[in-house]
Amino acid sequence: MTDPIDETFARMLHHRAETLEPGDPLMPPIAPASLYYLPGEPQAEHQYGRWTNPTWSAFEDALATLEDAPCIAFPSGMAAIAAVVMGTVKTGDTVLLPSDGYMATRVLADTYLAPRGVNVEFCPQRDFEGRNFDGIAMLFVETPTNPELHVVDIAAIASRAKAAGALLVVDNTTATCLVQRPLDLGADVVVAADSKALNGHSDVLMGHVATRDEAIAEQVRTWRKLVGAIPGHFEAWLAYRGLKTFDVRFERMCNSALALAERLSAHPAISNVSYPGLPSHPGHKIAARQMRRFGSVVSMEFTDAEAADGFIENARYIVPSTSFGGVHTTAERRARWGDAVAPGFLRLSVGCEPLDALWPDMEQALNRLD
Ligand SMILES: Cc1ncc(COP(=O)(O)O)c(C=O)c1O
Repeated sequence: MTDPIDETFARMLHHRAETLEPGDPLMPPIAPASLYYLPGEPQAEHQYGRWTNPTWSAFEDALATLEDAPCIAFPSGMAAIAAVVMGTVKTGDTVLLPSDGYMATRVLADTYLAPRGVNVEFCPQRDFEGRNFDGIAMLFVETPTNPELHVVDIAAIASRAKAAGALLVVDNTTATCLVQRPLDLGADVVVAADSKALNGHSDVLMGHVATRDEAIAEQVRTWRKLVGAIPGHFEAWLAYRGLKTFDVRFERMCNSALALAERLSAHPAISNVSYPGLPSHPGHKIAARQMRRFGSVVSMEFTDAEAADGFIENARYIVPSTSFGGVHTTAERRARWGDAVAPGFLRLSVGCEPLDALWPDMEQALNRLD
């Protein structure tokens, strides 16, 4: 039987062709438009450039096929997260976020929600299991977390959130919609930074919200329309282009990441390799159940900052850079941004280089450390 996500990806590739007329371009045109021709009563699909654009619509339609849910595109992952958080939470609500999740999400909640009378609570994501969700309006989870790759059981959290009346939002950035389907597991809303593996070429920032709850989708669309946090037409086109090869790239990246995680774990220069695909990872059993692959990010610890930086410097095929999900393998020490991790903690983003070139290069880089 065909894997349902494989089937969805094939459908996404052929989705546009179903509506084409003879002579139409297979790829959607790039539509730079602030104004549209709009005679009489405004009934056309596109009316003003801050409201809709045919190139974002093409991207959103393709994404909607993959997510199996309406999608709303944003010019970055943070713009998508802000739309959900700012567009749906009210004064007096309580929001619970992981204290070990993506830093900008936490800062956003602290900076803009707390002063507006929202009760913003943080706790380590591993403590969500024992936490009572009564009285919480929005529960935000990230799985696997960036950068420590903590995994939560989405289905279990979703049923507890539902029982408590809390809206469950899942940041699916590190996993992506090709390997993990939070909406199918009971989440209400998915947010994702498509700046990472979905676009994958390190040349575009993009993000999206996916939800099957039409009222929330409408709140998020209204936020975008009024705030004007809209994707550029060219960026949307590039992200659409990236989407076409997403599965091929991500399959290689995830396969290489698993092989590298196993090899890196066995090297004496490294301790505490965290990768959900390793049986030693505390969330491995959950990950194996809810993820189709284990992602392209591997986290690990070196004895100190110098050793971690030395590894990056010694490697020919590791670009010292922040972020993850691109075709080039990249790495950085996360303590340089103030994450609460050890000085030698390194986040490796595995790219599309053939494993047979990548591993020998990493091995020599490790062996050259003093
Ligand atoms: C888990 C996670 N969510 C959201 C974002 C924000 O994405 P963007 O940089 O596109 O705003 C990031 C970026 O690193 C991330 O890692």
